[in-house]
Amino acid sequence: MSKIFAFSIRKDEEPYLKEWAAAHPEVEVDYTDQLLTPETAKKAAGADGVVVYQQLDYTPETLQALADQGITKMSLRNVGVDNIDMAKAKELGFSITNVPVYSPNAIAEHAAIQAARILRQSKRMDEKMAHGDLRWVPTIGREVRDQIVGVIGTGHIGRVFMQIMEGFGAKVIAYDVFKNPELEKQGYYVDSLDDLYQQADVVSLHVPAMKSNYHMIDDQAIAKMKDDAVLVNVSRGPLVDTDAVVRALDSGKLFGFVMDTYEDEVGVFNEDWTNKDFPDARLKDLIDRPNVLVTPHTAFYTTHAVRNMVVKALDNNLAMVEDKEPDTPVKVG
Ligand code: COI
Repeated sequence: MSKIFAFSIRKDEEPYLKEWAAAHPEVEVDYTDQLLTPETAKKAAGADGVVVYQQLDYTPETLQALADQGITKMSLRNVGVDNIDMAKAKELGFSITNVPVYSPNAIAEHAAIQAARILRQSKRMDEKMAHGDLRWVPTIGREVRDQIVGVIGTGHIGRVFMQIMEGFGAKVIAYDVFKNPELEKQGYYVDSLDDLYQQADVVSLHVPAMKSNYHMIDDQAIAKMKDDAVLVNVSRGPLVDTDAVVRALDSGKLFGFVMDTYEDEVGVFNEDWTNKDFPDARLKDLIDRPNVLVTPHTAFYTTHAVRNMVVKALDNNLAMVEDKEPDTPVKVG
C-alpha cells in the first residue's frame, strides 16, 4: 500500500483531504498541521511522497531530512516554487509538482472587487458611517465603466480579471511578454509597459515574481502612470517597491492601492497579531490608510480554490508515487 504524508494541513483543508482519502482506499494518507522543517520531516517516516504548502523556505536541510528517509516526491498545494532550494532538490533527485491553476476566479474576483471598492472610496465611506457621518460629500465614486484597466500578465488569472472588468463596462488593455493569440487578434495588447502606464486608470499585476521583474513598479514606473491611477497587486509582493508606492500615496499621485501580496509578508501575514506588538510599521501605516486595501494574501482563499489545491496536489503525488507522469510537474534545477 502506498503512503502519502501531508504537512501543514489547515482545518479548512482537512475535509477535502479526507474526501480524497476516502475515494482512494488503496492509499494510506496521514497528515499534520505542522510545517515541514528538518525536525518535523520525520513525521513522514515510511511515506512514499509528501504533500506540502508553506511560505517557510524549503531549505537544503529540510530537503535533506526528507531524502534521508527515502522521500523525494514532493507535491505543492500552491503555485509558487520560489521558496524551494532547487539546486539541492536537483542534487537529491527530487521530483516536484505544484498546482499552477486552482481557481483563477478566486484571485481575479478579489482583484476586481477591491479595485471597485477603491474607485467607490468604500473604506472612507465605511469609516465615515462608523462615526455617524452619513453625508455624501466628499466620498464620490468613480464608475468602473469610465476606467481604462491595464492588465499586466494575461495568463489564467489576468484573463478572468479582464472579463470581469469588461463585465463592468471598463475598457481593457493588456501587456504581456508572451502574448495570447486570441487576445492579440482582438487587439488588447499595447506595445510596451510604458504605453500601458500612460493609458491605464487602473494598473493590475498578474505575473509571477522573477529576478527580472523585481520592483517593476518603482518610482519611475509610477511616474509614468496617470495621475489618480489605482494600483492592484494580488500577484507577488516583490513586484512592487512598497516605499515607492508609499511616496506616491503621500504625494497624491496614486488614488489608491490594492495590496494582497507584500514583499515582507513572510512571518507577518497569516498570523494573529491581536494584543501583540505589530512587527512592521510600514505595513501598519498602509493598513490604516483610507485609500489602501490590504488583505493578507487571501485572494486565493476560497472553498473552490482550497479544494482544488488539496485534491490536485494529492493526485499529482499519487501519480509520482505510482511512477506515472503527474499532471503538473515543476522543472527541478
Ligand atoms: C500560490 O499559490 O502560490 C499563492 O500565492 C497562494 C498561496 C498563499 C497559497
